[in-house]
Amino acid sequence: MKIGHADLKSSEANEFGRTAACRATFILSPSSTTTSMETDLSTTHLQLTIVPCQKASYKMSDSDTGKSYAGMDVSDLRRSAVQRKLRRKDLKDDPFQQFEDWFELACEVVQFDPNAMSMCSVDADNRPYSRTVLLKSFDERGFVFYTNFESRKAQHIAANPEVSLLFFWPTLGRQVGIRGTAEKLSAAESLRYFATRPRGSQLGAWVSPQTSTITSRAVLKNKFEEIKQKFANREVPVPSFWGGYRIVPREIEFWQGREDRLHDRFLYSRELDAWRLERLAP
Ligand SMILES: Cc1cc2nc3c(=O)[nH]c(=O)nc-3n(C[C@H](O)[C@H](O)[C@H](O)COP(=O)(O)O)c2cc1C
Repeated sequence: MKIGHADLKSSEANEFGRTAACRATFILSPSSTTTSMETDLSTTHLQLTIVPCQKASYKMSDSDTGKSYAGMDVSDLRRSAVQRKLRRKDLKDDPFQQFEDWFELACEVVQFDPNAMSMCSVDADNRPYSRTVLLKSFDERGFVFYTNFESRKAQHIAANPEVSLLFFWPTLGRQVGIRGTAEKLSAAESLRYFATRPRGSQLGAWVSPQTSTITSRAVLKNKFEEIKQKFANREVPVPSFWGGYRIVPREIEFWQGREDRLHDRFLYSRELDAWRLERLAP
């Protein structure tokens, strides 16, 4: 792992990336309390490399005027072939180390939110729902994100902890799919991360009754002002209804896009204390 030159937090880098339309290159360095395997994104160090935004690599059909997407023939979307391959001999025995390799590169080349992942859960009637969440840390125990414990996803997990995660890094032509079980982090772990968040995000966690119906945006703004007053001049405590989940994986699949749809897919499946590795047809 390389050590960054700038001392910015990832959230600041994202803001920077958005407003200045540049690419922030994440240079990961393990925090002092972590093992060599663990990548704690809340303490990620950054080196900011200012480069122009990449041109989109999608080519629309000729019938696409560029003015309206309505009626666009999406079957004609084309993406330039990615000149990468994934060979059995390149794969690590440990899927977390393999993920670390891919994630490190994704952080270098994916312009925005390389840690964004689709997280899918099912309700009590087994009806699925997907939404995006941000990976905040990972190690050999699993993949961690933070959320509201009264949200829909939390209700789903309470009824059925089986979930899936999906990363898609188009610039690399790569996808990583994870299936496993969601476990709540300990209050101490959630508190440790909460303390690293910008104050505005800490206050925001108190304000939003995630997934509940609200009558207007004013409800949020008024609540925000109220909470700001309440915690003025003191640390914002972590709400009891907020914290993290760790997804403990049973399967991790690495997918590398190749020419002629002959993609490379490798599936790691947990078998007691070991991982079985198989190639899957694309
Ligand atoms: C890029 C991106 C990152 C997000 N990160 C998170 C996150 O880390 N935690 C979270 O609770 N919601 C996050 N959200 C919002 C969720 O997608 C979702 O709207 C919210 O968690 C409510 O989901 P639920 O009603 O299914 O529980 C993010 C959304 C986007 C687009």
